[in-house]
Amino acid sequence: DGFSSERLFNQGYSYTYDDVIFLPHYIDFPTDAVLLSTRLSRNIHLSIPCVASPMDTVTESYMATAMAALGGIGIVHSNCTASEQAAMVASAKSRRVPIFSLNPMTVKAPDGCIDSFDGLDYVFVTESGTTKSKVVGYVEKSDWENLSDKKEELFNYMRDCSSKVSVPWNYDLGQINAVLEENELDFVVLEKDNEVVDVVTKEALEGTKGYPKLGKGTVGSDGKWMVGASIGTRESDKERLEHLVKAGINVVVLDSSQGNSIYQIELIKYVKKTYPELDVIGGNVVTMYQAQNLIQAGVDGLRVGMGSGSICTTQEVCAVGRGQATAVYKVSSIASQSGVPVIADGGISNSGHIVKALVLGASTVMMGSFLAGSTEAPGAYEVQNGRRIKKYRGMGSLEAMTKGSDARYLGDTAKLKIAQGVVGAVADKGSVLKFIPYTMQAVKQGFQDLGASSLQSGHELLRSGTLRLEVRTGAAQVEGGVHGLVSYEKKSF
Ligand code: XMP
Repeated sequence: DGFSSERLFNQGYSYTYDDVIFLPHYIDFPTDAVLLSTRLSRNIHLSIPCVASPMDTVTESYMATAMAALGGIGIVHSNCTASEQAAMVASAKSRRVPIFSLNPMTVKAPDGCIDSFDGLDYVFVTESGTTKSKVVGYVEKSDWENLSDKKEELFNYMRDCSSKVSVPWNYDLGQINAVLEENELDFVVLEKDNEVVDVVTKEALEGTKGYPKLGKGTVGSDGKWMVGASIGTRESDKERLEHLVKAGINVVVLDSSQGNSIYQIELIKYVKKTYPELDVIGGNVVTMYQAQNLIQAGVDGLRVGMGSGSICTTQEVCAVGRGQATAVYKVSSIASQSGVPVIADGGISNSGHIVKALVLGASTVMMGSFLAGSTEAPGAYEVQNGRRIKKYRGMGSLEAMTKGSDARYLGDTAKLKIAQGVVGAVADKGSVLKFIPYTMQAVKQGFQDLGASSLQSGHELLRSGTLRLEVRTGAAQVEGGVHGLVSYEKKSF
């Protein structure tokens, strides 16, 4: 019944996730017995197979912290200066709590004053005026608003910071909650070695109370969250990498839309020689030939996808690429022989796509649009036609390329910039801390239907021909989605 993957993917067609469907197999274990633990690259172990894409509307420090706290990982984008990127990595690693809270704004004691409290509820007074020293007090917005002379020294209106306002940086959410409740505080300052690391408000903590409990986070041997970063393949990227290594990155992703190039192969060799401890992920690739070249150069992981992303126009502009289901299957079949994990990058818009990517051979999925509307994604929400949305843009869009991301598309020496992506927006999805655990539960149910109790077992069932697939016709795809309903507006009675 159905086709084996071997037969289905060797017919000369390029299939996307939506084109293919698995036939159910046999269940002999409960959903919670499914293990989603995996590897991002040769030496990086994750407890969930989720990676946040290096895009400037997806992964900066908050997203990287949250993804690591969930057991996945975030790759901080490089569409900024090397020092800005390194600062984002350092901040993501040093934070312990993954909740979106205040960015501490500080002034110097005893003579600090500020111009406005725009967007702030508190200003902290520290010994040096930066977060790199102890907090001595704080000023509330209401105190400041009552000042007749806004240029007056805030120090005079400072509320004393008794020791109870500060707690060690590695307190977990439960411990922080206990301190807030016991002392009836509105916030606590998290400190490490007499430096401010973060501020957690009661309001932010309250907001996370209905979330599923977090599992095992992705922590490195330094006791901090693991964080990755992307770089391009220009000569100057070697200097960028040096900054990032100093900031503590655990893995580097070489970001090219067509990774099988002399530039990338030389850079892979350089990274492996210069930083033998650092895992290097190459790509993007979609064919076995491309993958083989990067494996020979020494990559620790492969990123797969070309033109499958929701904001990509590469296939239309350049006539090059591959359907993502075929690309993941083909590249995984060769990468698995060398023990190189595959990241299925782009085209994920529901949990079913994640199940397909993982069973077809990927070890993780990298997501852009799926995460872009979350609280942890960079940028502010806007309201349009009554909907809360956040901007999401391709790194090959003209708008993003003006900030430097054209290196990904090897457009750096061309005078004319050709767009290979678009700018858009996605709907508010709430916090990743809430929706990723639900998504993982749905993925586990998919694995259970297939009789696969782990990623490894899914791969084996597929390769052995035990799992069967079919191609869905256009009508079958319509049937598989919601259909035949008229719109229904909820009435309040
Ligand atoms: P999703 O579908 O998750 O895709 O939104 C994210 C992935 O898309 C790639 N990417 C691009 N591809 N033009 C492209 O052809 C672009 O402007 C662009 N920006 C991002 C990238 O691999 C990302 O992880």
